[in-house]
Amino acid sequence: MASNGKFYLTTPIYYVNDAPHIGHAYTTVAGDVLTRWHRARGENVWFLTGTDEHGEKVMNTAAQNQVSPQEWCDRLVESAWKPVWEHLNIANDDFIRTTEERHETRVQRFLQGLKDQGHIYLGKYEGPYCIGCEEFKLPGDLDDNKCVVHGRPVEMLSEENWFFKLSAFVPALIERYTKNPGACEPASARNEVLAFLQGETPVTDLSISRSTFDWGIPVPWDTKQVIYVWFDALLNYATAVGLGDDPASEGGKKFAEFWPADVHLVGKDILRFHAVIWPAMLMAAGLPVPEKIFAHGWLLVGGEKMSKSKLTGIAPRDITDHFGVDAFRYYFLRAIPFGSDGSFSWEDMSARYTSELANDFGNLASRLIAMIEKYSGGKIPAVAHDPELSALLAQTVTAADDAILALDFQGGINAIMDFCKRVNGYVTEKEPWAVAKDETRTAELMDILYNTADSIRALAVLLHPIMPTTTEILWKSLGADQSMGPISEQRIGLVAKWGQLPEGSTVTKGAVLFPRLEEAEAK
Ligand code: MSP
Repeated sequence: MASNGKFYLTTPIYYVNDAPHIGHAYTTVAGDVLTRWHRARGENVWFLTGTDEHGEKVMNTAAQNQVSPQEWCDRLVESAWKPVWEHLNIANDDFIRTTEERHETRVQRFLQGLKDQGHIYLGKYEGPYCIGCEEFKLPGDLDDNKCVVHGRPVEMLSEENWFFKLSAFVPALIERYTKNPGACEPASARNEVLAFLQGETPVTDLSISRSTFDWGIPVPWDTKQVIYVWFDALLNYATAVGLGDDPASEGGKKFAEFWPADVHLVGKDILRFHAVIWPAMLMAAGLPVPEKIFAHGWLLVGGEKMSKSKLTGIAPRDITDHFGVDAFRYYFLRAIPFGSDGSFSWEDMSARYTSELANDFGNLASRLIAMIEKYSGGKIPAVAHDPELSALLAQTVTAADDAILALDFQGGINAIMDFCKRVNGYVTEKEPWAVAKDETRTAELMDILYNTADSIRALAVLLHPIMPTTTEILWKSLGADQSMGPISEQRIGLVAKWGQLPEGSTVTKGAVLFPRLEEAEAK
């Protein structure tokens, strides 16, 4: 978090050549969970996502579908991208499209500024280009003249292009990543970037325009060329918050408030663009560089990166239809260490759904509500205090907060779910159903119910950024909405304060949080 309490996070902007698959959803859900967590800490959050609409790849897809590129983009954004993010409960503050006027004019102004300051020159590019990656390739990036990422032959380009003096910023980039390890994480990603910057093959200048097609933003002083799609796309992070606007204008104020970004979340395949080209562009313009680039791993199918072009893409709905949206949001962050690759399997997801969500969490909640209805007239009993549970809760909140701020989602979720297991253990050990049989032990019974209820109150708040819908249902069934206000307004910093659930709140039996999977459905 920046010192002024703001937190600006971005996802990559996605190519609109196809509909989103779970690899794209993985990045966006991670961003959503992280920003919801920061909001729950009371920070001033800005969460940006969007679409990358220029370049040959999108242009070719539109042509194959016999529509203009703009029509294609409009159709895909409205029918595929935005609805999927809505379905997955993504609470982004803004959605930028690179064909929007607000983006194009700011990109042109930025590029003109670099040219005026002497960072741009005319040169000749000769070499391989992969349309799948939209990237000028180096010999080491190819295998038998094919791009190693897409497995498809590259194009050979020979064009007169405008170049950005990228090489001039190599020493400053090396210094940044050496002195400030947090600027690029995890360590494996930082090492890869440093190896690239310090490698035997010197970093060359970057061609930032193309002359053989026209689907892009025109170079302001040479309108026969369009700006290279990555140069255009990377700028979205800054154009969306008012890059280059008059400081007194709305855009200028927004830029002062949120720039630089605190975290750019990216997949490891697009690390170099973000950790080398992007900060160099900003340095050239004299602007602050992002605080952190975090590269996560790939979702694999059959040991390879899941991708639509290889026909291995799984649509998020294929999974949410079986498990629900919240389980989808939970599963990938819980199962795969953020930064490593991981494989999706129906078996693993079914197993975790049943043991962690349905049994450990869902059952705990429904048992408690049922017991309060049965033994306490449906009202939360008087505030009690279990020193062991309350101490453990304090440790849990600290551990979860530390882990999630460090983008260790798995560690954070584990800490919370370990607490959930302990609360289950507490109920099992205390045997409230047995205590209820003895009328002289009513006070003890009420204490057990209260301690369990207040623990679940805390669990709901801690799990809310990960599973917003089910935790809200639970919150309402605890009566907490009435007695404590909306769950989204609860603060992480206060969760560990024991005894917050007021006596007398009325509980109601809500919908089952995580219904049992039908055997046949569990695939
Ligand atoms: N348009 C560029 C990004 C420009 S950002 C200025 C792009 N788009 S993309 O649609 O191809 O990919 C966007 C993101 O989705 C990347 O972070 C990429 O790593 C991620 N994923 C695509 N497939 C993935 C998996 N199979 N697994 C995990 N993430 C994956 O690149």
